[in-house]
Amino acid sequence: MRPPIDSGTILITGASSGIGRELALQLARRARTLVLVARRLERLEALRDELLLLNPTLGVVVEQCDLANPDSVDALLESLRENLVRVDVLVNNAGLGDYSLYEQESWSRIHQMLQVNVMAPVLLTHRLLRHMVERKRGGILNISSGGARVFLPGLAVYAGTKRFVDGFTESLRLEVFGSGVVVTQVAPGPVETEFSELAGTEELDGQAPSWLRISAARCAREALAGFENAEALVYPGLAYRWMMRLSSLVPRPVMRVAGFVAARRLYRGTSLLEPAHPDPGQRALLAGAPEGL
Ligand SMILES: NC(=O)c1ccc[n+]([C@@H]2O[C@H](COP(=O)([O-])OP(=O)(O)OC[C@H]3O[C@@H](n4cnc5c(N)ncnc54)[C@H](OP(=O)(O)O)[C@@H]3O)[C@@H](O)[C@H]2O)c1
Repeated sequence: MRPPIDSGTILITGASSGIGRELALQLARRARTLVLVARRLERLEALRDELLLLNPTLGVVVEQCDLANPDSVDALLESLRENLVRVDVLVNNAGLGDYSLYEQESWSRIHQMLQVNVMAPVLLTHRLLRHMVERKRGGILNISSGGARVFLPGLAVYAGTKRFVDGFTESLRLEVFGSGVVVTQVAPGPVETEFSELAGTEELDGQAPSWLRISAARCAREALAGFENAEALVYPGLAYRWMMRLSSLVPRPVMRVAGFVAARRLYRGTSLLEPAHPDPGQRALLAGAPEGL
């Protein structure tokens, strides 16, 4: 079973940048219609022009939408209904992170992460999946993160939201098995996009070895290949894929200690562990005592 990419209508959230933009470019010559969703309208319009140069017969629908606002998501769905846009494939790609100790994180940022990373994909899937099941053809491609599978201080909310996407996608995949709808999760590692700059994880990501980092184009290519093969979980990038496969064999208590050790190494010299953040987690890390882990 393959998702209806060729000549299908594909909605991509977060199409204005990074992985979402690359997915749109790589789908331009195959899809019938692409629905591009994000907040930055000028970027979406510029992308539409680029896509039409690649394929002048492609239908491109630009939908400016703040996924953190449920009313805006409802307006998006209403606009699709009014314009008789029938979505064959939904790509839940938009997402944001924030590198901060939880107690110091602003509630508005936490709320935004929960809305964009969790509520919007769940709502869009709820509204669009039933029509795919009725038609016995469709696809849901959810972008989670390898960050959900490791334990690192400073990324509690982000990791939590992506763990939700993991559980949601795996269970949903089993629910619709045999219905004609393909459900795939992509869990990238470090990808060169605007993500780290916006999440404040540049320092952190800069310490990840270069052999783990991949381009957004490669991430999109491997994501689409895995989706077309109806794979359950895609780890884009060869070295990263093997690292994640091996890490899934590691018992959870060992993962905790590994997270502790990695955090000490990763966060040394970064702003998260500066004295301006005298929180208990920081003190434990600096003291080097894995007591109670
Ligand atoms: N890059 C990495 O290293 C990495 C690693 C693992 C997982 N991921 C995941 O990959 C996905 C794509 O991220 P990326 O790396 O491509 O990052 P990116 O370049 O920052 O792109 C994020 C996209 O999400 C959209 N977005 C953010 N907030 C939104 C909102 N409130 N409403 C509508 N759209 C919103 C942005 O569009 P606007 O700002 O125009 O709204 C943008 O198009 C995310 O789910 C991320 O968690 C990335």
